[in-house]
Amino acid sequence: MKVSILGASGQLGTALQLCAPPHTHIRAYTHQQLDISDREQLTAITPCDVVINASAYTAVDQAESNIPAAVAVNTIGPALLAEHCETIGARLLHISTDYVFGPEQPQRPLKPEDPTGLPATVYGRSKLAGELTLRGRPEVTTIRTAWVYSGNLLPDHRDFLSTMIRLATGDPAQEITVVDDQYGNPTYVVDLARALWDLVAEENSAELLHLVGSGQATWCELAREIFQAIGADPQRVRPISTAEYPTAAPRPAWSVLASSRALPEWRNGVFRAVTGTL
Ligand SMILES: NC(=O)c1ccc[n+]([C@@H]2O[C@H](COP(=O)([O-])OP(=O)(O)OC[C@H]3O[C@@H](n4cnc5c(N)ncnc54)[C@H](OP(=O)(O)O)[C@@H]3O)[C@@H](O)[C@H]2O)c1
Repeated sequence: MKVSILGASGQLGTALQLCAPPHTHIRAYTHQQLDISDREQLTAITPCDVVINASAYTAVDQAESNIPAAVAVNTIGPALLAEHCETIGARLLHISTDYVFGPEQPQRPLKPEDPTGLPATVYGRSKLAGELTLRGRPEVTTIRTAWVYSGNLLPDHRDFLSTMIRLATGDPAQEITVVDDQYGNPTYVVDLARALWDLVAEENSAELLHLVGSGQATWCELAREIFQAIGADPQRVRPISTAEYPTAAPRPAWSVLASSRALPEWRNGVFRAVTGTL
């Protein structure tokens, strides 16, 4: 099986390479090697069985003031990539996000077929537009995920887990406040990568899937679990409201997804991520 990976130095792109099944021939393209928004550069991807698009403009707050950059990578790029995949006869697995859902959502796990409404952020709208450019293409599967963390598996990558580990091992007198009124599915990047490799092994898959860790949590609950896992006192984390932690891009209060496949429970993932194990 020949598989090409875009966004190869990102959190998911790296985990995909670490978890690759034996006898998989991987061609991994970093942003430096290949810009997804450049049609010419995409021709570097030679015929293969599957292309996984793990590249994205993921700076959610910066996207609010840099719309062209977000659109180029999250909307135009996937459309150009899908055209190229059709040319070389490859299946495309494209990664999307819970942020495609707008703010007015029912308080139940959201299914792939649920209407998204209008996303509240530039990042969410650029990713939703990217999804829409791929609709109706039989060779493409779009996979939405959420709250992806890697912790000590990828120490150079700054994610929520590594931030919390740093705070938990720092000054014990420092007050740590974390938002407790936003709900989502913490997803260990290794579990996501493994589920994606399962999809690669299948002949074909549904047009739109959700892949997230089992169970739901608030950011504060996740932070306390991280503290617990590394032997720090979880009560050092004080819950606050979204209103007390303003961000340039508004965060969804409810983005719990119904996973199309059962991934390990999020607390299990936290335990492995703090020790950096697969
Ligand atoms: N992280 C999360 O919590 C989360 C949640 C929901 C969905 N997702 C989705 O999951 C996927 C993987 O996310 P991630 O956490 O692995 O993000 P990430 O760590 O930010 O990785 C994204 C990668 O894309 C690369 N990239 C940016 N612009 C590019 C371009 N023009 N051409 C080619 N590559 C480019 C980046 O390279 P540079 O850094 O060198 O620019 C980076 O290596 C994305 O589709 C994201 O939207 C992530």
